[in-house]
Amino acid sequence: MSILKIARMGHPVLHQTATPVTDYKDPELSPLIEDMIQTLRDSGGIGLAAPQVHVPKRIVIFFIPEDRSAKEDAGIGVDLTVMLNPEIQYVGSETNVDWEACLSVPGLMGAVERYSHIKYSWVDIRGVKQEREAMGFHARAVQHECDHLDGKLCPMRMDDFEAFGFSDEINGNAELVNKYRGSLPNDGTLES
Ligand code: NI
Repeated sequence: MSILKIARMGHPVLHQTATPVTDYKDPELSPLIEDMIQTLRDSGGIGLAAPQVHVPKRIVIFFIPEDRSAKEDAGIGVDLTVMLNPEIQYVGSETNVDWEACLSVPGLMGAVERYSHIKYSWVDIRGVKQEREAMGFHARAVQHECDHLDGKLCPMRMDDFEAFGFSDEINGNAELVNKYRGSLPNDGTLES
């Protein structure tokens, strides 16, 4: 197992459409996922998409800590989930704006509008289709991760560039933090 280098905004691998996983028994898949898990743990983030480690395939790993889901998801965290070829379906048209950071945009954070309620499906590492429903931060994290598979980084989703900047500066600016709900802890560690 090894910790992989994380690509940063501007690297072409982050700005292309990733290809679906077609062979769920590919012997290279399991070591890649193990390395992604180790890289995520090392980074302190909550999610990682394969393009972020220079592999343009539709693979995402993420988890939701219990204390991040308390508000919208009845306090239920999500265990580390490995998703191949994830797909999102929006439930309703409600959206919300909140802060996001990204391991590929280190040191920066910004306010991003996301759908509040989604259903999502994926193929697990055994090749079995799975699905879930998500709201709030959980829904936000899945949308952020799946964007990576389509060459989109969170700054490309930002409407208000006054709400985009260096995390340590923004975290010292309570007025700005509070302008966008501030349901994230804003400690700069919940990156994905
Ligand atoms: Ni990200």
